[in-house]
Amino acid sequence: MLPPVQLPEPFTLVIFGATGDLTARKLLPSLFGLWRRRFLPEPFAVVGVGRRDKNDEVFREEARKEISRFRHDPLVPAEDWNRFLQRVFYHRADFTTAEGMQGLARRIGELESAGALPGNRLFYLATGPEHFEGIVEGLSASGLSGREEIRPWVRVLIEKPFGSDLKSAMLLDGHVRRFLRQEQIYRIDHYLGKDTVQNILAFRFGNAVFEPLFNRQYVDHVQITMAETLGMEHRRGAFYDHAGALRDVVQNHLLQLLALVAMDPPPTLKAGDISDAKLKVLHGLVPLCGHGVARQVVRGQYGAGVVQGRHVPAYREEEAVAPDSITETYVAIRTEVESWRWSGVPFLLRTGKRLLRPFTEIAVQFKLPPLRLFRTIECEGDVCELTDMQPTVLVFRIQPDEGISLSFLAKRPGMNIDLHPVRFEFNYGQSFQLALPDAYERLLFDALRGDATLFMRSDELEAAWKFITPILKVWQHGPPPEFPNYAAGSWGPKEASALVQNLPGGWRRP
Ligand code: BG6
Repeated sequence: MLPPVQLPEPFTLVIFGATGDLTARKLLPSLFGLWRRRFLPEPFAVVGVGRRDKNDEVFREEARKEISRFRHDPLVPAEDWNRFLQRVFYHRADFTTAEGMQGLARRIGELESAGALPGNRLFYLATGPEHFEGIVEGLSASGLSGREEIRPWVRVLIEKPFGSDLKSAMLLDGHVRRFLRQEQIYRIDHYLGKDTVQNILAFRFGNAVFEPLFNRQYVDHVQITMAETLGMEHRRGAFYDHAGALRDVVQNHLLQLLALVAMDPPPTLKAGDISDAKLKVLHGLVPLCGHGVARQVVRGQYGAGVVQGRHVPAYREEEAVAPDSITETYVAIRTEVESWRWSGVPFLLRTGKRLLRPFTEIAVQFKLPPLRLFRTIECEGDVCELTDMQPTVLVFRIQPDEGISLSFLAKRPGMNIDLHPVRFEFNYGQSFQLALPDAYERLLFDALRGDATLFMRSDELEAAWKFITPILKVWQHGPPPEFPNYAAGSWGPKEASALVQNLPGGWRRP
């Protein structure tokens, strides 16, 4: 029998930005999923806060439609819908004003008394980042939150982007911490909620076999890729054109993946110990500035092209994007982590929109053996050709086709001793026949029960911005890039090949 999972205490979840895309696509469907699988306590209430004029009934009906659209649950009985939706409320408020916040405080008080709720509150900030400071201040001024260590608890979950460079991130952090204690603040990076990402730690530190090889003696280099075929669907250009790939994905998701794959074993799995171990890696990143950026960072922007058989427009022609935009939709970086374990090992980070195929993975490529004792051949049917010796590669496939694989060389049957590349495979679907929970389900669940392990601490955020901000500065002060410089449906700008020139195999193209 599985050990019981610790459930959250009864709570009130208040979502700012309730009429936005994230609430529809992720938050409401995740809450429904948690509730159906009996991971939510009784009682609880979800209060959506927005500026649009609607009442509880209208919001519930919209929630039902969005949940059905994004969860694909097989037939949900009407009674289940009713039982879930009667716990969902809408409150119209201008949360930028004191009156708006006071009105919200009154409504929450009424709902908590009527529903016998103890007053544990999680405030989810799913608005644009320009509202984060104001909401946190408003929560405090209206008495909805406080810094005291008292029960019932109050927590605030803040969506990304957390700042747009080191200075703004630290200003926001300082502001938020005037009103909340560190332990009350949950800074989200949804990549940390993915089961496949958590499995990096399980694989590395739950098995004794591979960990001794994770260092400069055995590893040739590490490639971390998040390739997307998506462009600016759902008016995403409005946000993206002010962010760009470096802020949108590298500063958070890719650096977190790097930290997880490179960190030392933590003494325990407590949130603080994991954050300390990740922080050490982030502090070790060799800073890039001036010539370093020119040599080791490549940025790109897509032009028109064909992606998965469909003609797509150039980035500059996308909705809500400036026609002369110099925002990057692709970034590749070659960096190193200065530490006893990793010094001298290249870490390559790469992300891009509208690339040829979607995949997110971490590939740890091992060094070749010191002696070439064998010939390597690759065969398709009866046709074989001699190839270079191929390194052993361990791949954490974050998505799609989630799993872990190890490619290595084995003797091909026959009278010669010829080696041929083969693979050990672990595939989630085949091994567990269990659906992978959505990252937001996991993160909401953890925030509700007060587990901050999968959230970012402010010093991690600071270290990540310290690495990213000098790159942004070089770009800002240099001449404008010649964009577009890669076609949609390709593997990105050709300049990126310079970053892997001396690495066996070059960029991976699974
Ligand atoms: C988000 C980025 O954080 O992650 C998006 O803002 C990106 O631009 C998305 O598309 C990718 O997330 P996932 O979970 O689909 O890999």
